[in-house]
Formats: sequence, structure tokens, C-alpha cells
Amino acid sequence: MKKEMKPIQLAIMGAGTVGGGVYKLLQMRKDDMYLRAGTDIEIKKILVKSISETRKDVDASLLTENFEDIVNDESIQIVVEVMGGIEPARTFILRCLNAGKSVVTANKDLIAVHGRELLDAAEANHVDFLFEASCAGGIPIIRPLKECLVGNDITEIMGIVNGTTNYILTKMDQENMEFDEALAKATELGYAEADPTADVEGLDAGRKMAIMGSIGFHSRITFDDVYTEGITRITSKDIKYAKDMDCVIKLLGIARHTESGVEVRVHPTLIRKDHPLASVNDVFNAVFVHGDAVDDTMFYGRGAGELPTASAVVGDVIEVARNIIYGCLSRVGCSCYKELPIKGIGDIESKYFVRMIVSDCAGVLGNVASILGNNHVSIEQIIQRPAGDGMAEIVAITDVVQEKNFKAAIQTLSDMSFVQEISSMIRVYA
Ligand code: NAP
Ligand code: HSE
Repeated sequence: MKKEMKPIQLAIMGAGTVGGGVYKLLQMRKDDMYLRAGTDIEIKKILVKSISETRKDVDASLLTENFEDIVNDESIQIVVEVMGGIEPARTFILRCLNAGKSVVTANKDLIAVHGRELLDAAEANHVDFLFEASCAGGIPIIRPLKECLVGNDITEIMGIVNGTTNYILTKMDQENMEFDEALAKATELGYAEADPTADVEGLDAGRKMAIMGSIGFHSRITFDDVYTEGITRITSKDIKYAKDMDCVIKLLGIARHTESGVEVRVHPTLIRKDHPLASVNDVFNAVFVHGDAVDDTMFYGRGAGELPTASAVVGDVIEVARNIIYGCLSRVGCSCYKELPIKGIGDIESKYFVRMIVSDCAGVLGNVASILGNNHVSIEQIIQRPAGDGMAEIVAITDVVQEKNFKAAIQTLSDMSFVQEISSMIRVYA
């Protein structure tokens, strides 16, 4: 192909795991970028906190500590934001958009809270704002939801969208580790962050579900709307009982569009072994989408890491480059045109797994059943085993019931003298 287009100039803000990967992948594709994208793409500047730090494989002459070098450079048409966090990322992105530059980001923390503001700014400035890498790393899911599946009414998006927790739960399941041991292993292998709170408490997954839910249901969902519960209280005993009941425990993100509103939640969930998500193990992610026309679809792959995440970012960069060439920037912007009500967690319906220690004497099982029944909670399966010292362990799975009824029943049970402890309560996918 004859090279008629001038190369498009790009800046990267951040040169850590993802920024380094984007740099590397653009170098790997340098020779045939023109044939893939219709233009060459040149990196003009890379913003970092400190240029004195050595970064192997990155051309040091491109580094700057001064954001003004990027925003004031009129030749830069695309800016990749991979610094992370809310500020200064939000301000920098807004300034780039307002300066007429298209922005590509992997920043789920920012989009899950300020997505509307950023998309509105992109639209107002007739530029692109793309964020494929923000959800499930290398797995294509934002563009499929916005474009390929847009002809569907999507009723459910469900996913394993955090690799660290999936690795921990896999180790607990397959190697009988307890949570602390599996977390230590994830840290040793570099999967878990130094501060793993956002991963193990379900916050990282919650942000991704807010973004995917907004796009899938065409209605803005922010991180505040998402119920999150992490995996720190899951024990190997829960996992063993789940196995006995033909289930595995996964940290699932579930977004549903129901007749009474939208529910978006992240929590440990028992899921039947024959469900496709049950066999997604280790650090892998998967997103399961149900649309009224397409029926069930599943997207699987690596949700994090240098090159898998760079794959999504560079895909977005090439999309912007093509849109620049064809003069069609801002073609697909914010897709939220509805304002659907958000359901509180008490109003969701689910099955529940409950494990409790009770006195091992006549009538206790009957009392447990009648307290559940009085709160409109019916039982699907129940097991009772001796727990020693005159105690018994009851493990039950309920039918589909309203969460507030189940919680009321558990509150009443925990006040009963024959109940020593409610050991665990885990939602069951139904
Ligand atoms: P990281 O390794 O911590 O790198 C952050 C980079 O940003 C560093 O180069 C840092 O500069 C630079 N930076 C941070 N604050 C800055 C500031 N105020 N001014 C200038 N430069 C600044 O982070 P990461 O893992 O690459 O993640 C980046 C983004 O991608 C985050 O939004 C994250 O959620 C998202 N993401 C990450 C992954 C993954 O696998 N890691 C996957 C999907 C999405 P210095 O080098 O000078 O410190
Ligand atoms: N910390 C995330 C995970 C990757 O473990 O999946 C970045 O979103």
C-alpha cells in the first residue's frame, strides 16, 4: 500500500505494566501497522511520575514528567491513559478531550464513577473515548456489547472478572488451601497487588460490572449502585460442601435486567459444575451474556497482564486511527438512553446456601425448618451431620426466595438458643 497518510502521533500516560505492554506491542506491530490501520502510529511522548527511574525497553528520550508537553502538543491526536486511579487521570483525560484529542484508557476505577462525564466530553469535542481494556483485560467485551450485540435486549451479564480471586478460589478448590495460604501464593506469583483489598473484597469486579451493565442495559450504573461482597470469609469447608452439592464457588459478577429494575452485584456464588463458568479456573476471566436474539454467549481469556491488556488498548488505538482516517470520530459514544431503576440487594431473588451449628437434640431440625417457612423460605436440599460436643451441623440450600426474607429468617435463627453459630451464607446461582 502506498503511504499517503502522515503517521498519527500518540502519547501514553503511564509506563507501568500496561503502559509498558502498549509500548512493546506497538513496537511489535510497527512494520505492518500501515497495512493494519491504514496509517503508521508513532509514539511521541510517554508521561511518567519520575523519568529518573530506569525503564528497560522504553526509549528514554520519549519520557516526560510534564503533562503539559502532551496536552499542548497539537500533533498528538491519540492519548492512552494507563496511569490508573481517579486523579489526576480524570483531569488529564478531560483536558485531552477538550483539546480535541481522542483518549483510550484501561481505567475501570475512573469509568465506573465518572464514565458519563468523560463520554459527554468526548461527544462535545467530536473525538473518541474508548475503554475496552477496562473490563476483563484482553477479552473483547465492550465493543461486542456496544456494537455486535446491540440488536439484542440483553437481560443478563455474568462474569468471573477478577483473576486474582479466581486464582485463590481455584487453589482452595483444587489443592484444599485455606484463603490466607492461597492469597500468599497469588502474591508470590505477582497476581495479587501489594494491597489486595480491591480484588479480594470484590471492588475491582464491581467496577467492571458497573461498566458492562451500563452498556448492556443502556442505562447508567455507577460503582455506588453495585452490591459487593468479597471472598475473605469463604472456607475450604464451604468449598467441600459445595462440591458435595455438585457446585463450585466462584466470585461472580451478576448484572440482570428484570421487570422490576436492574440489579448489579458481586459476591461469592455457588454455581453448578455443569455451567460453563464453573470450569473457568486460575487467573482466567470469562463473561457470559444472554441476549433475546443471540441466546447465550461466552467470552473467555486473560483478564490482566502486560500483553493481554495491551492487546485491548492497541485494538482501541487502531480503531481511533481508522476513525481519524475516515473522518468518523465520535461515531459510537455513550449508549445509555434509558434511566432504569436500580434494585437494592434486599429485593433480589436467589437461592441461598446456609451452614450452621445447632444443638443436636430432638425438634431442632423441625424448628429450623419452621423458622425458614415462617419467613417464606422453602428448602431445596438439607444435610445434617454430627459436629461433636452435642452439636450438629446443618447445611441447606433454599429454593429461589427474596433476599430480605432469607435475611429475616437468618436473623431470627441466630437469636435462637439452639443455634450456636451461622457459619456461612452464600448465594447460589439460579
Ligand atoms: P502501574 O504498573 O502501577 O503503572 C502506572 C504508571 O503510571 C507508572 O508508569 C507511573 O509512573 C505512572 N503514573 C502514575 N501516576 C502518575 C502521575 N500522577 N503522573 C504521571 N505518571 C503517573 O499500573 P498498571 O498495572 O499498568 O495499570 C494501569 C491502569 O490499567 C490502571 O487503571 C489499571 O486498573 C488498568 N488495568 C491494569 C491491568 C493489569 O493487568 N495491570 C489490567 C487491566 C486494566 P512511574 O513509572 O514513574 O511510577
Ligand atoms: N487485579 C485485577 C485482577 C486485574 O486480578 O483481575 C486488573 O483489573
